[in-house]
Amino acid sequence: MAEQLIIPDTTDRQVKYAALYPQVEALLAGEQDAIAAMANLSAAVHQAFGWHWTGFYRVLGGRLVLGPFQGPVACSPIAKGKGVCGTAWARGRTIIVPDVEAFPGHIACSAASRSEIVLPLHGRSGKVAAVLDVDSSVLNDFGPTDEQGLAKLCRLIEPLLP
Ligand code: SME
Repeated sequence: MAEQLIIPDTTDRQVKYAALYPQVEALLAGEQDAIAAMANLSAAVHQAFGWHWTGFYRVLGGRLVLGPFQGPVACSPIAKGKGVCGTAWARGRTIIVPDVEAFPGHIACSAASRSEIVLPLHGRSGKVAAVLDVDSSVLNDFGPTDEQGLAKLCRLIEPLLP
């Protein structure tokens, strides 16, 4: 396919995720490099939803190291259990933070970030090998539709991770 996404002009996120998924699936088909796949996935999510920051951290040397992302420069590395990303890694579960100021230990990379969602990606070993972090400048911006839509997209990357 041509490397161009067609994103429906709607505020209905379910419709957007449904349109985005097969396009990202086609874009990543045959991709064997996790970094390339994470780069295109973060660009696709950024183009579709325009959130403040969308990107990956990989588990490397016992810490989360910044990976491909779209948005302003970000902090790296992040220790296990620290911030929302490190907590999602430690728990192995998705975390939705409606108000980052109310999350103890939130790492404020950017003052513009008000809410966020972090999803763990499990690699071939079964362990968390990366996280997807999406930050919004809008309070309480993420819900179950995002959790499901982003998790489905993350599953396209997981087979490429150690
Ligand atoms: N807010 C994150 C840190 C990463 S940046 O926002 C990109 C956290 O607390 O884990």
